Amino acid sequence: MLNLRYDFNNLMAERVGEHGVTDAELRALGPKLAAAADAVEKSPLGFRKLPHNTKLADEVALLAGEIQARCDSFVVVGIGGSALGNIALHSALNHPEYNQLPRPPRRGPRLFVPDNIDPDRIAALLEVVDLDNTVFNVVTKSGGTAEIISEFLVFRDALIKKLGPERHVERIVITTDPERGELREIVKRFGYASLPIPSDVGGRFSVLSAVGLLSAAVTGIDIHKLLKGAAEMDARCRKSKKLWENPALAGAALHYLMDKAKGKNIQVMMPYAHALRDVADWFRQLWAESLGKRVDRAGKTVHAGQTPEKALGVTDQHSVLQLYLEGPFDKVVTFLTVEEFHTTVPVPPAFPNFEGVKYLGGHTLNELIRAEQRGTELALTQSGKPNCAIRLPRADEETVGALLYLLEMQTAYAGELYNINAFDQPGVELGKNFTYGLMGRKGYEAKRREVEQASKPNSQWVVNT
Ligand code: PA5
Repeated sequence: MLNLRYDFNNLMAERVGEHGVTDAELRALGPKLAAAADAVEKSPLGFRKLPHNTKLADEVALLAGEIQARCDSFVVVGIGGSALGNIALHSALNHPEYNQLPRPPRRGPRLFVPDNIDPDRIAALLEVVDLDNTVFNVVTKSGGTAEIISEFLVFRDALIKKLGPERHVERIVITTDPERGELREIVKRFGYASLPIPSDVGGRFSVLSAVGLLSAAVTGIDIHKLLKGAAEMDARCRKSKKLWENPALAGAALHYLMDKAKGKNIQVMMPYAHALRDVADWFRQLWAESLGKRVDRAGKTVHAGQTPEKALGVTDQHSVLQLYLEGPFDKVVTFLTVEEFHTTVPVPPAFPNFEGVKYLGGHTLNELIRAEQRGTELALTQSGKPNCAIRLPRADEETVGALLYLLEMQTAYAGELYNINAFDQPGVELGKNFTYGLMGRKGYEAKRREVEQASKPNSQWVVNT
């Protein structure tokens, strides 16, 4: 039993008035929703096989054990779908100050996921890791993304300089498509250890493949439990195509209506648990890159998508909440909450003569964060601002596996409702192709000319100081 609850109450017209969804709107969506559920069930979606691949988890756990034994820093060289899931799992399931801990209790090497090519960031990373004890996991589905390949070349060169051309090979693990891409060819020719990313799983749906599993296992996360939670959620979604029995289908339906019928074209995910902050970041990519599409399946221009944003409770109560409460009616908030934290921090009683201080004494920070979440939820609801909540009993491997899988399924169903392809990313590819052209990759000369043509200096609308 996962005991994860998706609470949609505050999206309903009964709670938030004209900005909420009505029964009639839900009924009218019925046939379209049934078709969406059917389509998802019939599609051979690669990511749906991942929770059941315990054989891969065994293989990853074995490699992870061996890496744990021989290194003290582990660097994930990836970007977007090849990095955000790793970061989300790490913050959700490892100690909040993991890299600062001595080992033990730290369960594995320090973890670094730069998720960027900023030269200062990469140079700084090379200053703090000891190349004698560092393993680099190069993660790229296509095997060709410029950011990842260039970092690979930088780190490989540093390793060769430090350890020599032969020994450097043991410090690199390449996770990529099992057949396609030049990186796979490099693995075959140069003998790097490698793991597969199934050809039918795209980057943003790959967190439960070797992409996310290796860094998770290396840092001591129980990846079998993670998959177990996801598999339970998969069973739950397969069991019923009825709105109120399938949490992912309900999530897709309600958010679709929020966007299309109620004009809430922004969805803010707001975790009230520090551990889940990067789940919101991971979801931002999943929802945006999957649903943000210019054309629908019939080739009609639609410019579909609901803009995902992230906020953090309670931090952002003191930053953006004012706007959410009193600004435009263009948002829907999705809270992520945990019933239980891993620790309890009591607030010691003090200053009995100061009413503004004394009332907090004897409570706990746990009570305070829960009270603040309830307060924010009610304040939004009273202001007619729709909000929903995914309530986890706690952030552990099973519930986090289930949560990530739930959001992936919600995205797949939503893609069907919007009638777009949720599994491609032509916009991202266009940007990548311009970069290839500018950096001189063979075959992309026309793209280079296009950029150069478009970016001819024009001083007319520039302010120089
Ligand atoms: O989700 C996606 O498809 C993208 O974010 C990719 O993961 C990202 O662009 C990196 O691509 P690749 O793993 O193919 O190098």
